[in-house]
This record gives sequence, structure tokens and C-alpha cells, in this order.
Amino acid sequence: MPLLVKNARIVTATADYTADIYCERDTITRIDRTIDQWTLPPCDILDAAGLITFPGFIDPHVHVHLPFMGTFAKDTWASASRAALLGGTTTLVEMICPARTDDPVSACDLWRSKARESICDYSFHMGVTRFDDRTPAGLKQIVDSGITSFKVFLAYKGALGIDDRELFETLRLARELGVVVAAHCENQELVALLQHQLLAVGKTGPEWHEPSRPPYVEASGVHHLCAFAEATGARIYIVHTSCKPAIEEARRAAATGVRVDVEAVIPHLVLDRSYAERPNFDGAKYVMSPPLREKHHQEFLWRSLAAGDVATVATDHAPFDFATQKSMGKDDFTKIPNGIPSIEDRVNLLYTRGVREGRIDLHTLVRVASTNPARILGLSTKGDIAVGLDADLCLYDPDHRAVISAKSHAMQTDYSAFEGFEIKGRPRHVVRRGEIVVRDAALVASPSPGRLAPRIRTG
Ligand code: URP
Ligand code: ZN
Ligand code: ZN
Repeated sequence: MPLLVKNARIVTATADYTADIYCERDTITRIDRTIDQWTLPPCDILDAAGLITFPGFIDPHVHVHLPFMGTFAKDTWASASRAALLGGTTTLVEMICPARTDDPVSACDLWRSKARESICDYSFHMGVTRFDDRTPAGLKQIVDSGITSFKVFLAYKGALGIDDRELFETLRLARELGVVVAAHCENQELVALLQHQLLAVGKTGPEWHEPSRPPYVEASGVHHLCAFAEATGARIYIVHTSCKPAIEEARRAAATGVRVDVEAVIPHLVLDRSYAERPNFDGAKYVMSPPLREKHHQEFLWRSLAAGDVATVATDHAPFDFATQKSMGKDDFTKIPNGIPSIEDRVNLLYTRGVREGRIDLHTLVRVASTNPARILGLSTKGDIAVGLDADLCLYDPDHRAVISAKSHAMQTDYSAFEGFEIKGRPRHVVRRGEIVVRDAALVASPSPGRLAPRIRTG
């Protein structure tokens, strides 16, 4: 049934105005100051008065099916997409993460089959964890099927990390195919050496995770990637950038013509290193890579978002239970599965800590959490509210007050990294391709499945 959204205060990356929005099938077909419902065929109606109507939010970096560090991340696509929609996110981009010995095309098929139970729309970054003579043919096939970004790890040496020859070949192929390359940037050799040094003197707790990967380790990784991007002409997207030196490296490269965009993630914006120093192994809940940083880096990240030096905010959702999974690293911080669950919390935290506390404005919120992810990753039907685009809408209630807790979240993990954080706002209704999927902050019964979102090549 068509949908009419009445009295919408529409906020996009560039505009703020009031209008009615009419959606037929998947698409926005009319936006007018007033659309009279009696001139229309029978339709659903949502009254958006008092709410802010944003484009559906896009999370450009999540992990759902993730075999990693001897275990599997906790979510299924059913659970992750439910949590995402409740948090206002209508599109997820997940990393396909094959082991070095896996065939890329089979991995792609496996990840795509898992995502069939998603109720969000979705796409993928194709993880390149090995590059040999057979790799280009497989990657071309994957790109032709609509997955128009690669992802590489300059980290996790001996597992997902690739060497310099593989990095060069991947970037060269990406340039040839016109796709963007997302990259986790750290100096993996240095990480391994620092980890060894710390463990050798009995520094085994989660509080030593950050010292094993200090800011210069990340900046070195960014510098390294940018040099390879300069050599190949590839377009790069640096994920989960956590600190000032890393952002400055990217800015320097951009100034010399490297095509680089920078992503921040919500944990780095609202949590700092002291969380990973909490006693009794509680700090393990906050172990992710790059690590949580000293507080001053947070304000630098916020300022960089406002200034446009950081283009996007993702979650890097990577959920592991505290009791049974984080505990794998009880005697050795290098064995704590890296990752923080946050797929449900990104928009509420960006709004509360960013907009309400005056660090960013509403347009920046939309730009970094919807419009720029769509533009950088070529999600050509998403990221804005306009006639002809997908009818993905988040009708946000700025007056809602709540406290985040694992007791009430929809994510699968036994803890929340944001336990006790106040939020000042939440999505009241969420529309995905014209279908109301969240009504009055609750998922509707039996929403139709999400689909692989069409993408153009942006590399
Ligand atoms: O700690 C993190 N970030 N875990 C997920 C895997 C990755 O590096 O993106
Ligand atoms: Zn990463
Ligand atoms: Zn990640």
C-alpha cells in the first residue's frame, strides 16, 4: 500500500523544510507542501508532526557473520538488522571476510546467503585477504554482481592481514575496475612487536591493548596505505580512524591528490581509553582495534566531522559476549576478540552527544551517517530525501529520553558498551523502501525482507 507522510520536518544534508512525502512501492514519488490524502488511492498515513524526518541512515561498516580470533561474532542478520532498524539505520554494508585459504566467490555466496534473512537493505565490501593469480577473475565477477568495494586489513598479521605485494595488486585492480578500497590501517609488524614486548614482561590485561597499538601505529598504517594509493591511483576509504595523527596523515595525502575519505566510528567518538582500563577484566568489553584513545582525540574527531575532514560515521559493529567470548583473553589481551557492539546506538549517540551537545549540526548528522556513505559507496538510490530515491525514512522523536542498557537493547550481546548513557531522542517510526518497519519504536510483525542495494562504481 502507498504511504503518505504528513507534516514532515525534512532534514537532509543540505535542507530543512516542512512538507508531505508520498511513497509508492519502493520510491518517493512526490514531495509537496501539502498533499491531500483524499486525492490519493487508499494509503497508509504517518503523521510526522513534532518529529524530525531524516533519510534512512546507512551504516557503511558492520560485521554480522564474522569468523574472527577463534570465535564467531554474536549476531545473525535477523538480529543485527532488527537492532539496526530500531536505531534508525535502514541500510547496512557488511564486510565479507574470507580466510586466506577460502575462495572469494564462494565466500561471497556464503555471506550473501546469510544476509537473506535481513530486514534492512544491505551491501558488502569484498574482503581481499589473499591475492594470487586466480584472484582478479573472482573479484571481477563479484564486482559485476554489484558489490563495488573491496576491503583490506593492514592489521591482524598472520590472519586477515595482507602483505605489500597483495596490497599493491588489490589497489591496482580496484583502480582498473573503478571500485573503492576500504582499509583497516595499522602497522601490523609494529603491533606484533609491541604485543610481544608487553606480554614478555607480564603485561597481559586489556589495559595493555591500547599501548600495543598507539596512535603512531595507526598513523603509520594510514601513511603506508596512502603511499600505495598514490602509486596506483586507487580511491581509498580509511575505516575506523581513531586519532589525530592518523587523520592528519590522511589530510596530508589528500592535499597531494590522493583520493581518500576517512571514516570514524561511534565507539571512538563517545568512549575513551579509560574504559579499557576498568578493573577485573571489565576493560575487555572495550577492546577493539584501533583501540579507544585518550580523550583529547575524541574532541578532535568531532571537530573533524564538523569541518568535513572525516566523511562518515559507522559503527564497526563487531559483537562478542563478555562472559564466554571476551573471556578467551583472560590471561592474554591479544586473545580478546576485538570489537564493540553498537549497531543500534549509532544514531541516538550521534544525535545526543553530537547535535544536542553542540558538536555537530543536524545537517552534519545526515551527511556523515547517510548521504556521504551513499555517495562514497555508490548507493545511488539512497542517502537523501528526494523524488525518485528509495523511500527510506527515519522519523525521529527529539523529545524522547532513555538510558541505554543491555537489559533493554535488541543486540544479541550480554553487555552494552554504553550502559547507563542517557539518550535524548530516538526513532519513532522507520520506513524502509516505502514500508513501515518500525512503528512507535517497535518492530512491526513480519516486515518484508531487505534486499541487496544497487550500487554504482565510485573508484
Ligand atoms: O576491533 C575491531 N575493529 N573488530 C572488528 C574487525 C575490524 O577490525 O574491523
Ligand atoms: Zn578493522
Ligand atoms: Zn570492522
